[in-house]
Amino acid sequence: MAILVTGATGTVGRHVVSGLVQKGKQVRAVSRNPENAGLPEGVEVTKGDLAAPESLRAALQGVTALYLIMSSDNAHTALQTDPKVIEIAKEAGVRRVVILMDYEGNPVEQIVKDSGMQWTLLKPVEFMANALVDWQPSIRAEGIVREPFGYALSARVHEADIAAVAVEALTEDGHHEESYYLTGPEALSRVDAVNKIAAAIGKEIRFVELTEEQARQGWKDQGYGEEDIEFFVQMGKNPPEVGYTVLPTIELVTGRPAKTFDEWIAEHKDEFM
Ligand SMILES: NC(=O)c1ccc[n+]([C@@H]2O[C@H](COP(=O)([O-])OP(=O)(O)OC[C@H]3O[C@@H](n4cnc5c(N)ncnc54)[C@H](OP(=O)(O)O)[C@@H]3O)[C@@H](O)[C@H]2O)c1
Repeated sequence: MAILVTGATGTVGRHVVSGLVQKGKQVRAVSRNPENAGLPEGVEVTKGDLAAPESLRAALQGVTALYLIMSSDNAHTALQTDPKVIEIAKEAGVRRVVILMDYEGNPVEQIVKDSGMQWTLLKPVEFMANALVDWQPSIRAEGIVREPFGYALSARVHEADIAAVAVEALTEDGHHEESYYLTGPEALSRVDAVNKIAAAIGKEIRFVELTEEQARQGWKDQGYGEEDIEFFVQMGKNPPEVGYTVLPTIELVTGRPAKTFDEWIAEHKDEFM
């Protein structure tokens, strides 16, 4: 019996796949482009589209547990997973689903709670990996980070820790009906985070604080829609307590401390140089 991983080529999904492989589990992965997935040997990669749930019916046969993403962080991939995937998974005999949530109030939450399947919801705060997406190009090219709200705090979480919780919930009992809010072990501002990267690479990085208007325009230029931009602004201007309050969930679920931003930087240092 296999475990089906959607978003398997994504930031968290790659770690979910490798964590399951390390545990000796049979993994099936979904990608729109299986030939370019670049997943570990032994992982069966199937073609599927989360916005067209029928395309997943065959991939769900013989699957006991499903890791499901609801959207993508790629500004150019307008993924909105069709919640009908849950119904099709249940029909195929899937007993357990672990969902990486994108926003509070997503109707999928009620759908999975009513499904009769075992469910676990993962609700991470900001990913540490955003530092690569957002800052790598300008750090490498100019030694600069341009951001608004430099002193807003965030308890950014390591994507491998989110995946480690997913792997536990997919493979072990005791996580049914849990909504796990996941944070890293410390709350850092953007200025703090950039200073840590600068110290690790031994290069000065200038933090240029953008006005809200400049930031809105920048996100627009990167292809983000109005709703996403409003969310980014609110997260910086009025960060919700949940975004910067450190929680012990990762250690409680995985049995080891949540990874620090310094550990994340050590893994990615070369990518900023
Ligand atoms: N970044 C943050 O700070 C943050 C914080 C909290 C929650 N989140 C949530 O985390 C989720 C993103 O997770 P992630 O960063 O691990 O993913 P990601 O890196 O954005 O990767 C997206 C994945 O989606 C797949 N995909 C895109 N369109 C698809 C489609 N139509 N059908 C099937 N697969 C499709 C891609 O696979 P292929 O290209 O191989 O098809 C890729 O594996 C989002 O829901 C986001 O809201 C993010």
